[in-house]
Amino acid sequence: MDIQKIGVVGAGQMGNGIAHVFALAGYEVLMTDISQDALDAGRALISRNLDRQVSREKISQEEKDAAMARISSTPKLAELGQTDLVIEAATERETIKTAIFEDLVPHLKPSTILTSNTSSISITRLASRTDRPEKFMGFHFMNPVPVMQLVELIRGIATDKPTFDALHQVVEKLGKTSATAEDFPAFIVNRILMPMINEAIYTLYEGVGSVKSIDTSLKLGANHPMGPLELADFIGLDTCLAIMNVLHDGLADTKYRPCPLLTKYVEAGWLGRKTRRGFYDYT
Ligand code: CAA
Repeated sequence: MDIQKIGVVGAGQMGNGIAHVFALAGYEVLMTDISQDALDAGRALISRNLDRQVSREKISQEEKDAAMARISSTPKLAELGQTDLVIEAATERETIKTAIFEDLVPHLKPSTILTSNTSSISITRLASRTDRPEKFMGFHFMNPVPVMQLVELIRGIATDKPTFDALHQVVEKLGKTSATAEDFPAFIVNRILMPMINEAIYTLYEGVGSVKSIDTSLKLGANHPMGPLELADFIGLDTCLAIMNVLHDGLADTKYRPCPLLTKYVEAGWLGRKTRRGFYDYT
């Protein structure tokens, strides 16, 4: 499978990071989102993040300029029809993702591989809503995408070997490392990471420690680069809650019960860094 042109659905936190790393690795990227404003904001963020890499001498100014020239954008989903690989990186809600696939599929070439950057939703179920379950996979990047080395590759029940092998090679071309996960709720990273974050929120809820003492404990006591509450704010508390709900519903075990404090923060609209308020105040 010859993969050269990449379609990225969603110019937000994950989508713009994905467009960034593909363009830097030499792929042509077409990014789409519902509004031109979202696309412009995504493009501006890619430019700023590439500047960080230039200023730290990770890449040259010429490499930055070439990467930016490889990224184009359109608010029209149908224009992704001629791409070889589509990566859906929209909001972590199944109804939104399936609506996107249903709109997109009639425009795609038969050979296009379709993927989702979902952090937890069943790949088999998403694939079943398309015309190509054998060419459908979970393609899960970590945040911040330009910095994090891992990409999870998740096979749905119908995914064929050429599709898996093609994505495996793409990850190598990006200079990243893949880990293969079977299709069970939240796969590997979030099956382990999210219950830890949820437990940190319970630790706060039950008054065992303050925000600062919980984060300091994990940073200095377990060498984590960020404390779990800081990381929850970074990921987005709505995404954390959505993943805990997928684990709780999918595995039917009370050990995955979302902490009531997490639910309350999401209900308040305190979603972490993106709303400037979460466990920390970013105003
Ligand atoms: N683009 C490009 N470069 C970036 C960047 C971005 N968006 N964000 C950070 N960087 C670079 C910085 O320029 C810096 O580069 P150098 O090493 O060359 O100096 C480096 O990354 C470190 O950044 P900072 O100095 O600004 O800050 P830091 O040392 O505190 O590191 C961090 C920031 C990389 C985010 C670090 O705190 C970290 O690794 N945190 C944990 C992140 C994590 O766990 N991510 C996974 C979340 S889970 C997930 O994504 C899955 C899911 O489905 C929810």
